[in-house]
Amino acid sequence: MKYLTDEKLVIVGAAGMIGSNMAQTAIMMGLTPNICLYDPYAPGLKGVAEELLHCGFEGLNLTYTSDIAEALTGAKYIVNSGGAARKAGMTREDLLKGNAAIAEQFGKDVRKYCPDVKHVVVIFNPADITGLVTLLYSGLKPSQVSTLAALDSTRLRNELAKYFSISPDEVTGCRTYGGHGEQMAVFASTAKVNGEPLTRIIGTEKLPGKDWEEMRVRVVQGGKNIIDLRGRSSFQSPAYLSIEMVAAAMGGPEFRWPVGTYVNNSRFSHIVMAMETTVSANGVKVKPVTGTPEEEAELDKSYRHLCALRDEVISLGVMPPIDKWGDYNPYLCQTTD
Ligand SMILES: NC(=O)c1ccc[n+]([C@@H]2O[C@H](COP(=O)([O-])OP(=O)(O)OC[C@H]3O[C@@H](n4cnc5c(N)ncnc54)[C@H](O)[C@@H]3O)[C@@H](O)[C@H]2O)c1
Repeated sequence: MKYLTDEKLVIVGAAGMIGSNMAQTAIMMGLTPNICLYDPYAPGLKGVAEELLHCGFEGLNLTYTSDIAEALTGAKYIVNSGGAARKAGMTREDLLKGNAAIAEQFGKDVRKYCPDVKHVVVIFNPADITGLVTLLYSGLKPSQVSTLAALDSTRLRNELAKYFSISPDEVTGCRTYGGHGEQMAVFASTAKVNGEPLTRIIGTEKLPGKDWEEMRVRVVQGGKNIIDLRGRSSFQSPAYLSIEMVAAAMGGPEFRWPVGTYVNNSRFSHIVMAMETTVSANGVKVKPVTGTPEEEAELDKSYRHLCALRDEVISLGVMPPIDKWGDYNPYLCQTTD
């Protein structure tokens, strides 16, 4: 089997649903033969490792441990879904306090055990905040930490394909930016349906305004819908997309969706949010994007919502006030464009 790299990939939260699916996906996509699984829940972790070993993969060097020092030492790539998952009736933000504290410890562990890590993908929710906390305490560069935010865009693509009864391949340019929460900004102006700009279709008999509004709600509540259908938070799609992100960071195929990244410029200050991005072996790069005035206003609103969450984490004492961030990670004081 040909692998993208032979460097060590650590999957944090590997006993969980996303983590175990990521492990299998990473092996099947040929990312690296050197995969280490970490989870504090040792019996579940052993069960996942046993299952993977029972697959009979060839050329695989799979290790697992509940010792974080052992897991992270020598890590060059990390993907982390290790935190509590949303239960029915909870929003991603309800998870805030517990998972932000987990992210603080994780960031400190990265700094201590694998300061030479090349890229870290953060998944556990609210991912914009846990990614920001990880970035702060790890001391890594903003281009080295990304968060999973693509699901909102893939859900928009799916909703449009279902509505028009066409293949999802005929729907292009689906984008949501800002927070990966229920206050995301759904952009219509970037999308095309069968080659026709979506903005030209909205409000016509093809897609009446009311139907578009209902579709936006279904996109924003896509995660809740999976919980309603399956009785638990989604895991197949986040696992797959996160491994695609890691593959891109390893120099593999380009990642085709927005990722969450640190932004600090004249418009958005000291925040992690979904932007138009590329992910490559050089990390995350942000590309400019302009929407309609309504979309831009939605993005501003989403940003303000994220700022409120960030400030709540600061008031909880999990993060220091912004003017002290330079003491922990000087890169966060630099502007990002
Ligand atoms: N960003 C996204 O698009 C997205 C999508 C779906 C789910 N999620 C989030 O991903 C996370 C994981 O979801 P899941 O379905 O795999 O949950 P899960 O409960 O199945 O697994 C979580 C795993 O994390 C482990 N864990 C707990 N504390 C930990 C710690 N301190 N360090 C490392 N691991 C720890 C648990 O033992 C468990 O095995 C949740 O926070 C969920 O909300 C994010």
